[in-house]
Amino acid sequence: MLRVAVLASGRGSNLRALVDAIGRGELAACIVGVFSDKAASGALALARAAGIAAIHVDPKTFPSRLDFDRALFEHVDASGADLIVCAGFMRILSPEVVAPRVARMINIHPSLLPNYPGLHTHQRALDAGDRDHGASVHVVIPALDAGPVIAQTRIAIAPGDTAESLAARLLPREHALLVQVVRWCSEGRLRFDAERVVFDERHLTGPLSAD
Ligand code: GAR
Repeated sequence: MLRVAVLASGRGSNLRALVDAIGRGELAACIVGVFSDKAASGALALARAAGIAAIHVDPKTFPSRLDFDRALFEHVDASGADLIVCAGFMRILSPEVVAPRVARMINIHPSLLPNYPGLHTHQRALDAGDRDHGASVHVVIPALDAGPVIAQTRIAIAPGDTAESLAARLLPREHALLVQVVRWCSEGRLRFDAERVVFDERHLTGPLSAD
């Protein structure tokens, strides 16, 4: 059974999607811990309610970003996770902790990468006049939101859309995308490193579609 660690800072709806898929028997994985920089995050509350180890590591108690990151990943490593999923984890991670884990760490990002790394992705897609928007699951590498894209989900931007309406329409698609990618990992169909993604023994030349 694939052992999954989830890093999350906020509400935790992507974590919820994973927990629910496991509960319904649709995902053969086990969440071995939820790790957060925010004591009040919904993700930690959800983990506790689901009987999953919930660990808060407070950035304010460390002298540097790297010290925090090292402490965080000591906990993650102790969980014995095979796969580390960043699901709304809103801190930039130091290269020193990312580099050794590139082949087993993924992130969900609310844009069609390589468009709009960073923040405010919905508004930036609107401001650019894009017709499409979406979300990506990508390999985490030291550069922000820049690792190989594993899979995407795509929605059309409609007249009158706002950042809020786009976010609301995209969220359930994000959930399905993340569950699908974790399922592919659990089935042994997916492997990756900082340069490439291999799916069913073929190198991907572009992202898979989860739609
Ligand atoms: C999701 O929309 C995710 O794509 C985004 O944060 C949200 C977390 O929601 N991630 C990023 O912006 C990462 N840069 P959740 O806490 O309900 O899963």
